[in-house]
Amino acid sequence: MALRKIRQYYDEILRKKAKEVNKVDESTKELIEDMLETMYNAEGVGLAAPQVGILKRVIVIDVGEGPIVLINPKIIDSKGECMMKEGCLSIPGITGEVIRPEIVTAEALDLNEEKVVIEGEGLLARALLHEIDHLDGVLFTDKALRVIDSDIKEGD
Ligand code: CO
Repeated sequence: MALRKIRQYYDEILRKKAKEVNKVDESTKELIEDMLETMYNAEGVGLAAPQVGILKRVIVIDVGEGPIVLINPKIIDSKGECMMKEGCLSIPGITGEVIRPEIVTAEALDLNEEKVVIEGEGLLARALLHEIDHLDGVLFTDKALRVIDSDIKEGD
């Protein structure tokens, strides 16, 4: 396992569309291990492959309930709407208020190329939507109603 460099917002690769994974081979598995290590090291709740410079449709998430690895993830259903603050490891020091669906269902492949369906609400729904957006070159700042410089403390 190795830490990979997290690409920053000005890197053009973050604006490209990632490609479907046809085969979960050794290099995909190594990528996933490295992404998990990189996400935990940076204390993030999610990471998408383009953020480490790889244009493959792979995301990893951990909202405090253990690692979730999704290959070729797709949102297949969503309900409700809510506003939450988001941040991104590729845009340090910035948070934004973003309106997104409250509950989502995603379909993907797991490491064994088996189909998995995952339903998430709250932070998990948010992470699924945010990370899947990365696979299409979308950053949360594109959708934020208000962007806040987190380095300016809000009274705490
Ligand atoms: Co992000």
